[in-house]
Amino acid sequence: MKERLQKIIAAAGICSRRAAEELLRQGRVRVNGQSAALGDQADPESDIVTVDGQPLRRDTRRVYLMLNKPRGYVTTLSDERGRRTAAELVSGCGARVYPVGRLDMDSEGLLLFTNDGELLHRLISPKKEVAKVYYARHEGQANADDISAFAAGLTLRDGTVCLPALLEPLGPGESRITVREGKYHQVRRMMASRNMTVTYLERRQEGTLTLGDLPRGRPRELTEGEIALLEGKTQP
Ligand code: URA
Repeated sequence: MKERLQKIIAAAGICSRRAAEELLRQGRVRVNGQSAALGDQADPESDIVTVDGQPLRRDTRRVYLMLNKPRGYVTTLSDERGRRTAAELVSGCGARVYPVGRLDMDSEGLLLFTNDGELLHRLISPKKEVAKVYYARHEGQANADDISAFAAGLTLRDGTVCLPALLEPLGPGESRITVREGKYHQVRRMMASRNMTVTYLERRQEGTLTLGDLPRGRPRELTEGEIALLEGKTQP
């Protein structure tokens, strides 16, 4: 059955659907040797689709992993400065998987990896507003004004406006923070805008997934139930 090329490319785990559209615009995609354009379709079973001359993999095994990223690892596939990468920690999974969003080098916790370009695209899309829950230790104490400012939608020190977020003080210098977007250094900058300096940050939940007691530095495959929830096939 014919499908749009960007969908076929994303499903092969090359990149997101939007990035595949860009590949098509750049003329880097061919179908059975003929140059393809945005809007073209192909049959993934019978047509040979290439990107930069490389045929798409026929292996359609989808891999979904959760990693408990430790501090000191960057969220990239490779690092030109030779720093340790989160990708190293999932390299044993036997597939080329990509991180879903990112965690700062100094942050820890739940980081998803997949070769399912469609799902990746959906989870990082700002429109989906997937909830991410963080545990933070910080200098300074969160008070009722801070909670209200988070709930109203903070303006960061550089003028960036954030969506409403939930700030829940847990004890002296400890809070739980729930955000629905993924701006650069978002939680650290939100806290800084209220004069609190984050000294430790861990992501404990993303959408329907929770980190649980996964040991730091270890990946695990998602269960079928977790994948179904992510794909929106089941209600949490
Ligand atoms: N917010 C941050 O400041 N850092 C992260 O790694 C994630 C969210």
